[in-house]
Amino acid sequence: MRCQLMICAVLGLFLTFHIKINDAVVFKFTNFVCESYNQSWFVFHNYRLKAVSRNKVLLNMNSTVLHPVNNASVHVRIFKRANGYKPWLVDNYFDVCQYLRKPNHPIANIIYGLFKDFSNLNHSCPYVGPQIVKDFYLRPELLRLPFPTGDYLLALQWYFDKKPLADTNVSFTFVEDLMKRN
Ligand SMILES: *[C@@H]1O[C@H](CO)[C@@H](O)[C@H](O)[C@H]1NC(C)=O
Ligand SMILES: *[C@@H]1O[C@H](CO)[C@@H](O)[C@H](O)[C@H]1NC(C)=O
Ligand SMILES: *[C@@H]1O[C@H](CO)[C@@H](O)[C@H](O)[C@H]1NC(C)=O
Ligand SMILES: *[C@@H]1O[C@H](CO)[C@@H](O)[C@H](O)[C@H]1NC(C)=O
Ligand SMILES: *[C@@H]1O[C@H](CO)[C@@H](O)[C@H](O)[C@H]1NC(C)=O
Repeated sequence: MRCQLMICAVLGLFLTFHIKINDAVVFKFTNFVCESYNQSWFVFHNYRLKAVSRNKVLLNMNSTVLHPVNNASVHVRIFKRANGYKPWLVDNYFDVCQYLRKPNHPIANIIYGLFKDFSNLNHSCPYVGPQIVKDFYLRPELLRLPFPTGDYLLALQWYFDKKPLADTNVSFTFVEDLMKRN
């Protein structure tokens, strides 16, 4: 699965550069890894990517919060690939419950805006029960950031009561619309 997606991503990049240079940007998932560090509070049933076309990859995740949570935070980091992943611009902690009461941070707004329509996580605290992301794909028109072409990793480390709970790490490819820039 992972290798297949990598090959698709590489092939996608190649074709993009050589054939579709004046088409819309490419913005798609290439890998997705999750891990719970506290199975008595949070379990992943499954998490996977599914390529439905060359430039569209769906992300699905099914997980359960086993006890109500009113105190959650997330460490958001973005890495850009260049001989391994190097930290890139974003390294922030967010209080999830506070943010959801009043969504007002530009970086969090972009990330939340990309997935909130595909998930049942888009409500205020507490969180309990099934936490589902369904057929989530990346929409470049919602990315109001000057992203350079490259491969990225968005690492989200979740905490309940300041204790490490889980990682959800998503890798993605972004290819600029080179014609648009000229
Ligand atoms: C997620 O990414 C971070 C940053 O690279 C890393 O420290 C962590 O081990 C990763 N987690 C998983 C489950 O791969
Ligand atoms: C999520 O996984 C649980 C446990 O396997 C299952 O009962 C439930 O139907 C799944 N939900 C979705 C939306 O796939
Ligand atoms: C949450 O997502 C659903 C679709 O799953 C959507 O209908 C609803 O408007 C979203 N709510 C918010 C607050 O974004
Ligand atoms: C799991 O998370 C809960 C809620 O934050 C905490 O009370 C408990 O100590 C955690 N367990 C472990 C093993 O970290
Ligand atoms: C969340 O829990 C941590 C650890 O118990 C505490 O230090 C922090 O003040 C709590 N935050 C909120 C908003 O209640």
